[in-house]
Amino acid sequence: MPETPPDFPTLHVSRHPAVLHKLALLRTVETEPKKFRELVREISWLVGYEALEDARVRPLRVRTPLEEIEGAELADRIGLIPILRAGLGMVDAMLELMPTAQVWHLGLFRDERTLRPVEYYNRLPDTATVDLCLILDPMLATGGSATAAIEVLKDWGASRIKLLNLIAAPEGVRTVATAHPDVAIHCAALDRQLDERGYILPGLGDAGDRQFGTGGS
Ligand code: PRP
Ligand code: URA
Repeated sequence: MPETPPDFPTLHVSRHPAVLHKLALLRTVETEPKKFRELVREISWLVGYEALEDARVRPLRVRTPLEEIEGAELADRIGLIPILRAGLGMVDAMLELMPTAQVWHLGLFRDERTLRPVEYYNRLPDTATVDLCLILDPMLATGGSATAAIEVLKDWGASRIKLLNLIAAPEGVRTVATAHPDVAIHCAALDRQLDERGYILPGLGDAGDRQFGTGGS
């Protein structure tokens, strides 16, 4: 069972040993992009599995080779909303878990000077086509990007929204929880704080650059 720290009632932090082990490798500065992408995918699967525990199912009659039983099928239409770019690395894992999910990309980047999110890609149709939205983004730092994404989805008509991160900072969790107490946040780790440039400490650096090899060194 994920842990909910007393100060953050909407936050669920995984305690699974496989998550802890993979997270240490993910953070390690020597981990190169190929391995980093594999780890993003693996941790996303594990945290996503925990986050989707309350997805709705409906009864389904199933005939085994021996007898007929009442099984279940997914009733919720699930929407995956990866935040470009870094959220892209979480999509495949979530599609393995929920193969029928719709994927709606949202392009947001954080202005490095103001730390405010800038939207640059959004092709959502006029009305919501899913019952449960899962926002995918490895990093929750100031919470600006996540809050903007949640607002876009609520304007779209989404009523059930969850946020899936790998690493969250207390500042970002507080911002999202204050603006959107109805949105559960699932992550692999709650880190200590942000630095003066808005990076998570201890964190893992820039999640987009580390996945796509664009860090420049
Ligand atoms: C990173 C990350 C989040 C955002 C978090 O994206 O993937 O989207 O920063 O920061 P916030 O909580 O302070 O908004 P970035 O802007 O670096 O874009 P990228 O994914 O294209 O690298
Ligand atoms: N975005 C990242 O990729 N890393 C951080 O530490 C903060 C925002």
